[in-house]
Amino acid sequence: MELKVLESNKIDEEVANEIVTLIKEKPNCVLGLATGSTPLGVYANLVKKYENKEVSFKNVRSFNLDEYVGLKHDNDQSYFYFMHHNLFDHIDINPNNVHVPDGINYENCLKTYDNEIKKAGGIDLQILGIGSNGHIAFNEPGTDFDSFIHLVDLKESTIKDNSRFFSSIEEVPTRAITMGLRSIMQAKRIILIAKGKNKNHAIKALFDEHGIDETLPVSVLKLHPNVEIYCDKDAAEGVIDE
Ligand code: GLP
Repeated sequence: MELKVLESNKIDEEVANEIVTLIKEKPNCVLGLATGSTPLGVYANLVKKYENKEVSFKNVRSFNLDEYVGLKHDNDQSYFYFMHHNLFDHIDINPNNVHVPDGINYENCLKTYDNEIKKAGGIDLQILGIGSNGHIAFNEPGTDFDSFIHLVDLKESTIKDNSRFFSSIEEVPTRAITMGLRSIMQAKRIILIAKGKNKNHAIKALFDEHGIDETLPVSVLKLHPNVEIYCDKDAAEGVIDE
């Protein structure tokens, strides 16, 4: 794992540049995309680059990591809505080429999602954020490293963290559908972004004290040969990268 500590806006620029470089090399590449506040700056940079005609997403395929169970596409807290509002509606990606796990008709999605990724040739570059408890996508502590797409009961801490986007904590869905840790590990390359003090505990555990085990889902990335971790100073404080 390679650790890069940068200012927040530099992270956004560099990661967007990495994505654009990949699209130029492979115009029909497969992107694995994340939601949450962390990748917003990356998406804003991508929209800017598209508007400046530096890149076209015409042949790009994308797969999102996860979705809340029970939120319809037009609910502004659904990850489907988030992706369209913050990225897809502002670029020339083909709507048939974008995939967000279905939090309503999830039975069918559970059967097909990993296969769709496989049929697309696998994910070339997976973008990840991280939860304060070390979750990636919605793979909470205790998730099997061998998991593919599955339903999950969200932990109290995740519901609390994510309640800042909802008008009250009662509105936060308690279940989600998420790509599994094995699904994520099959990506050819992974970029994880962590910003802010509330990610410091998980990032420190990842680099310092913690071994590789299911109590810290992000630790699975230590078994992947091609991972870059971009942190701002707050997230990386006290981390010793050897
Ligand atoms: C949610 C998402 C994760 C994301 C995490 C952190 O739980 N399922 O994919 O990484 O939130 O969100 P934020 O970037 O807003 O801190």
